[in-house]
Amino acid sequence: MAIERTFSIVKPDATRRNLTGAVCAKLEEAGLRIVAQKRIQMTRENAETFYAVHKERPFFGELVDFMISGPVVVQVLEGENAILKNREVMGATNPADADEGTIRKEFAESIEANSVHGSDSPENAAIEIAYFFSGSEIVG
Ligand code: RTP
Ligand code: MG
Repeated sequence: MAIERTFSIVKPDATRRNLTGAVCAKLEEAGLRIVAQKRIQMTRENAETFYAVHKERPFFGELVDFMISGPVVVQVLEGENAILKNREVMGATNPADADEGTIRKEFAESIEANSVHGSDSPENAAIEIAYFFSGSEIVG
């Protein structure tokens, strides 16, 4: 299995409730290494660019408002099969559908305020990492 990198966000609902460490513990318990991390306040332009794929969806405006409603922690995670592994530990988008033990099952407030983002493909992981991090900020 190849060592991969994926991009992760601890979303504003989680930073607001002081759950950054609890989310990171779940990621590390799953075997993912946090090889870059910083706490930032996204601008509206950041959030609109990041979620541009959803711009025609009815929830886009609310999603952007939510993502800039407080600080987020952006991360690069590394490990075997990291993209899929992270999606598994995150759980389903809607916490009502998420499996026991997943981050969203334990911590998410709603389908929107669902505590974490994770890249969904190698292509998007590379794009998302490059948007938020320079190479020298990633220390594996
Ligand atoms: P993400 O991109 O944040 O990792 O989440 P995901 O792949 O599980 O879900 P996606 O379909 O890409 O949706 C992106 C984010 O938009 C919000 N959302 N709100 N109100 C709604 O019906 C709705 N649906 C999605 C969530 O914050 C979701 O994570
Ligand atoms: Mg997504």
